Amino acid sequence: MTRVLVLNGPNLGRLGVREPEVYGSATLADLTAAAAGWSAELGLEVEVRQTDDEAELVGWLHEAVDTRSHVVLNPAAFTHYSYALRDAAAQVTEGGLVLVEVHLSNPLAREAFRHVSVIGPVATGTVAGFGFQSYELALRAVAARS
Ligand code: DQA
Repeated sequence: MTRVLVLNGPNLGRLGVREPEVYGSATLADLTAAAAGWSAELGLEVEVRQTDDEAELVGWLHEAVDTRSHVVLNPAAFTHYSYALRDAAAQVTEGGLVLVEVHLSNPLAREAFRHVSVIGPVATGTVAGFGFQSYELALRAVAARS
């Protein structure tokens, strides 16, 4: 079965309480439950993880390469400045795996510092601005390509 790691970066463990006007009132546990439903429908084996630690996120991308897992990645604030994460993400797509960058909000409609993504150029594609549906669309893209 096609394996997909759904990886979430810093502060996304605070979904539901963090800026609900931007990110909504649903929690990471709600996202995990929704992902289980989408994966059953799409025939994917999906695992949802979250960390505030850049090194852990880099390690999970290495794991994706080594286990031939596709990736749906919300890098959160690392999106905008982490070259370490970018280099790790590049190994995923260079390895012939799909990596979809996702965002709940639309960073291009927000503060100027969010307009740059260092991940986007090495991702297969990006889905942003649709809340949890960004993840659903990303999983559908993975399923269609694998
Ligand atoms: C985010 C957007 C980022 O700019 C921000 O730092 C986040 C969440 C999103 O999902 O909309 O933490 O990645």
